[in-house]
Amino acid sequence: MQTGFDLPPPGAAAREHSDRLRGLVEARIAASGGFLSFADYMDAVLYSPGLGYYSAGARKFGAAGDFVTAPELGSVFARCLARLAGGALRQLGGGLILEVGGGSGALAAELLLALRDAPPERYLMLDVSGDLRERQRQAIAARVPELLHRVTWLDALPADPWQGVLLANEVLDALPVERFRIGPDTVEQLGVQAAAGQLAWAARPAPASLAAALRNLEAQLGEPFAAGYTSEIGLRQADWLQALLASLARGLALFIDYGGTRREVYHPGRREGTLACHYCHRQHADPFFLPGLQDLTAWVDFSAVARAAADGGFDVAAYATQAHVLLASGILDDLNAGVGAADPARLLEVQEVQRLLLPGEMGERFKVLAVTRGFSPAFPLALRDLRDRL
Ligand SMILES: C[S@@+](CC[C@H](N)C(=O)[O-])C[C@H]1O[C@@H](n2cnc3c(N)ncnc32)[C@H](O)[C@@H]1O
Repeated sequence: MQTGFDLPPPGAAAREHSDRLRGLVEARIAASGGFLSFADYMDAVLYSPGLGYYSAGARKFGAAGDFVTAPELGSVFARCLARLAGGALRQLGGGLILEVGGGSGALAAELLLALRDAPPERYLMLDVSGDLRERQRQAIAARVPELLHRVTWLDALPADPWQGVLLANEVLDALPVERFRIGPDTVEQLGVQAAAGQLAWAARPAPASLAAALRNLEAQLGEPFAAGYTSEIGLRQADWLQALLASLARGLALFIDYGGTRREVYHPGRREGTLACHYCHRQHADPFFLPGLQDLTAWVDFSAVARAAADGGFDVAAYATQAHVLLASGILDDLNAGVGAADPARLLEVQEVQRLLLPGEMGERFKVLAVTRGFSPAFPLALRDLRDRL
């Protein structure tokens, strides 16, 4: 993978913004004895109020940003999820939709439009980013103003039990992860140090909680990691998921993200892990390049997500590729609906469907984990189910 040096340079204001965030990170490093864990670094550069990548005003999504997500491609993805969510709400006899990490609001806007004739009682949005909340409001107001009054932005997880559908597209991959390296004798926690005005990798013996989690992971994998193996682990993920799901008394939750089963994420050949940095549609491996101006992500271990949901009292209803879920939701009907029309919008829609479905695009890299509580969907969630691989 390429490193930062050949990436497009930012403008003066963006560089100044990044420098301020680097200063904040350096102060944190100093305050914590010269070493900041990678999870704390990721948290700082993505979510520091007013400065972090998601908290501040960088464009992020779409052609003018750093990466493209499925809802940003057009409206087909949202229409597919609308059919799944609408089917669940009908079967439940009504309820809410809670979207976590709604990004630019593209999914919420198109999904509400698709459900205009039978909308959810309320559409709740929960996002850590104040900047994005405002963008979400504008996107919904522009696309489906008549339903804006049904949308509520939450400051915290819902306190009261609710029924309905929870949606999280590309949120799990944005949660801070620890990075580790297996040494010949010990396990190392990788973190960040400040040296000669630069941020750089640092290593120290893994704290007991990380070492124990890795021993547990090795036991689940059935073999130890080889010396030198480097990867990531989301130690905060299970608590976050269980808190998120706790109030969903009855209904369906869909987690859509890139990643795989534990065996795929921690495949022995993946010796450098899955950490990826996204800047201006380039993927590279330098997390210290322009802090605050690039996204940092790691693959989602869906085996761990499924286990956390099951521990939280949920049934794992499906695990499948994005393509197999979208096919079950009738994506080909979207495509066939416009057959014969020779307008440019139709062409864009065909391209969108291809990107959503093709294995080399989002179709197989992205997976969907569906979990339910007190609810058994009467409609197919996926054409092909891979739960036995989790
Ligand atoms: C990669 S973006 C995905 C955005 C959108 N779902 C999409 O697919 O275009 C991650 C989103 O998750 C939000 N996010 C990250 N951590 C979160 C958390 N702990 N709670 C709620 N939202 C979070 C970010 O602010 C951002 O909106």
